[in-house]
Parts: sequence; C-alpha cells; structure tokens
Amino acid sequence: MTKVKIGIIGGTGFDNPDILKDRKEIQLTTPFGPPSDSCVVEGKVRGIPCVLVSRHGKQHSITPSKVNYRANIWALKELGCTHIIASTATGSLKEEIKPGDIIIPDDFIDRTYMRLQTFYDGEPNSPQGVLHLPMHPPFSESLRKLIIKTAKEINIDCHKEGTIVTIEGPRFSSKSESKMFQTFGCALVNMSTVPEVMLAKEAGILYAAIAVATDYDCWKEDYANVTHANVQEIFKKNVDKILNLIMAVIPKIVQQNWDKEILEAQELVNSSMM
Ligand code: ADE
Repeated sequence: MTKVKIGIIGGTGFDNPDILKDRKEIQLTTPFGPPSDSCVVEGKVRGIPCVLVSRHGKQHSITPSKVNYRANIWALKELGCTHIIASTATGSLKEEIKPGDIIIPDDFIDRTYMRLQTFYDGEPNSPQGVLHLPMHPPFSESLRKLIIKTAKEINIDCHKEGTIVTIEGPRFSSKSESKMFQTFGCALVNMSTVPEVMLAKEAGILYAAIAVATDYDCWKEDYANVTHANVQEIFKKNVDKILNLIMAVIPKIVQQNWDKEILEAQELVNSSMM
C-alpha cells in the first residue's frame, strides 16, 4: 500500500502552522523558483505526515496573480505528497449557498489570464515534453467523497458539488460579470483554484478543495457587496469548520488504499505526453 503524505494549502485566513505537531520549517526552491514564503512547514496531524503551504504567504502579502503555484505544487510533490487538501475563500453565486457554508467543488471554469499553468513549458530547466492533459474530473472524486462522508460524520453541513470560476483578481467582479458566471452555471467564484488544481493533476497528486462561501459577490440585490473585510470576517468565523474537517479527514485518508487512484493519475500524465 502506497504511503500517503498530505499537502495542506492554506488560503486566506487559513495558514496557521499550529495545526501541525513536530513542526519543521523547510526552506527550499524548485525549478520554478521558491514556494510562497520560500518555505513549507512539515509536521504531523494526528501522527500523520503533512506539509503546509501558506498560499499567499504568512503575512498575506502575495497577490493571487503572483502566487508561485508551480513552485508550491512542485515543492509538495518533491516532499512526497500524494494528496492535497486546499482551503479557499469564495463568493457564492447561488442563493442556496449562504455565507459561512462549506462546499466541496467538483469542477472549475478558468477566467485567469496571466498565470503559468503547466510544468511542461519548454524551458531548459523544466521537465521535458508537451503535456496535453485531460482535465475531467479535475478534483479527485475519491478524495472529495471521503471529505463529504467525513463532514457528515462530524455534523458539518456541506454542499457536495459546485463549479468554481477562478478570476484573475485582485479586483472582485463587476455585477455583469457576476451574473454572467451565474449563467455559466457556476456556484462559486474565487481567485486561486486555477491553476492549482491543474498543476496538482500534472504532478499526479490527488487534489480536493474545501471552499467556504464568504459573500454573495455582488449579484444579490438585498445583500452587501463583497469587500475584502467581509471575506476575512466570515472566513475567520468559519475557520474552525475547515480545521475540524481537515483534522477529521486526514486519519481517514491513511486508512484507505490509494494505489489504484495514484497509479491512474500517474498513467494519465504519462499517456498525455507528446
Ligand atoms: N474570494 C472570496 N469571495 C470572493 C469573490 N466574491 N470573488 C472572488 N474571490 C473571492
């Protein structure tokens, strides 16, 4: 049975390394430069090896377009991570997804335009080849199912699916954009799932996200428009839900045999290489 190691990517408001016991800061770089904060934190959750990356840096000083997503995912791969659980603050595009709700997204739409999305970019220090990777399903179905099951067991309500549109940011959407995303069928809007989810797939790592709705973006007539302050406030109020869910799911991940999923993820990459 493959030994698992879990990468945790902390988003806005969830980047506290205290969740890890026996913490060790690891300074490292990658063929794509250094990860956020030039380091990751290795440690244990309930005795299970984990690695925490703080996506925007500990001081939240890295704007979403400037996060070195490639370095973050590469670093997690290099350190042997087989799974990634990423937290993300999102705006809700559906009435029934209320601020404070937890969602486990199952698909994405890419509305970013200035991010590097592949390790296979033809540069001399990058891995060689051209990779045309099928995206569906972008999130690991098995990992999503396990998170949803665990949430139920610990009485955390969660929405079991939803398409997330990632915008370039750092600005929020206009009302017309927000309404357009609704016509696309999107449930959520954020600034970070792309290109993280596709890079994890390129790395053969099983990736799932735990999203928290912090606002109704700006489409809802009788509700305050999104601001950075209300994103932070609602995220902070709900951070324990994510924390408890992550702490509960990690011991369940190690009980499962992931050989098939890991092999399939790797074979998909190999068979998609030109
Ligand atoms: N993160 C949290 N709320 C958001 C919103 N409305 N748009 C983009 N990213 C977000």
